[in-house]
Amino acid sequence: MTVLDLWLTRSVPMCLLLQSLVLMALCFHPACMCPKGCTCVHGNGLNVTCSHAQLKEIPLDLPPDTALLRLDHNQITSIPDQVFKEMHLLRELNLSHNAIRTLGENAFRGVENTLLTLDLSHNRITTVHKDVFALLKARINMGNNPWHCDCTLQQVLKGMMYNHESASRVLCKSSELHDEGPPRPFLTINADLCNLAKRTTDYAMLVTMFGWFTMVISYVVYYVRQNQEDARRHLEYLKSLPSKQRKPEEGDDISTVV
Ligand SMILES: *[C@@H]1O[C@H](CO)[C@@H](O)[C@H](O)[C@H]1NC(C)=O
Ligand SMILES: *[C@@H]1O[C@H](CO)[C@@H](O)[C@H](O)[C@H]1NC(C)=O
Repeated sequence: MTVLDLWLTRSVPMCLLLQSLVLMALCFHPACMCPKGCTCVHGNGLNVTCSHAQLKEIPLDLPPDTALLRLDHNQITSIPDQVFKEMHLLRELNLSHNAIRTLGENAFRGVENTLLTLDLSHNRITTVHKDVFALLKARINMGNNPWHCDCTLQQVLKGMMYNHESASRVLCKSSELHDEGPPRPFLTINADLCNLAKRTTDYAMLVTMFGWFTMVISYVVYYVRQNQEDARRHLEYLKSLPSKQRKPEEGDDISTVV
């Protein structure tokens, strides 16, 4: 055994130890901490793929330097407020094929200026807050959701940058117009759903006021009638008084006659 051999046999474990130490140190870098069920790949920015991972909610330990985030084909039910707040490099977000019903009003706070693509298709969204996409510059796919088409949705689509593209994919499962039948594209509804709602409330107000008015009038009429009746009865009573007083006298007369 030469001196070199001895040195090598001692230094190989040392080298391995050193290597793992360096790797561990590298892994304290946030990008190395990939959430459970996800794979993180550096390409043109950090590429985080959590598709088909049976996630029930959006992981809270997503790397802040994520540029591409795929969360499609999971069982996510909601997007809480400010959940992507720290991800200032996020360009593409895919949440399609989940069970999302609710989106927080501030769900996309923090990524307004960077996000270019947002896929919310194939979920269970019926309605959203009217300002939820207001500041986003992203192309948004809202298709294949059971939308309820009302004034709010009309406001949402009006406020969106690529609204025509998004609106063309929105099918109304139900709508303010109470029409039965298969889902129809939002764009084929020609009515102004906001004015419609206003008109409905105006009409309800009118009916209520008319109801009150009728009640007041009928009460007044009833009151007057009742008073008239009372006054008449009272008058009749007064008229009948003298005759009643006279009657006993007549009776007396009769008795005296008898
Ligand atoms: C991200 O990863 C997917 C595969 O997981 C790959 O197709 C895509 O090109 C990657 N994008 C970037 C920017 O690295
Ligand atoms: C999101 O993911 C689904 C499923 O993998 C895919 O079909 C869709 O094209 C993706 N959306 C975008 C905008 O890339």
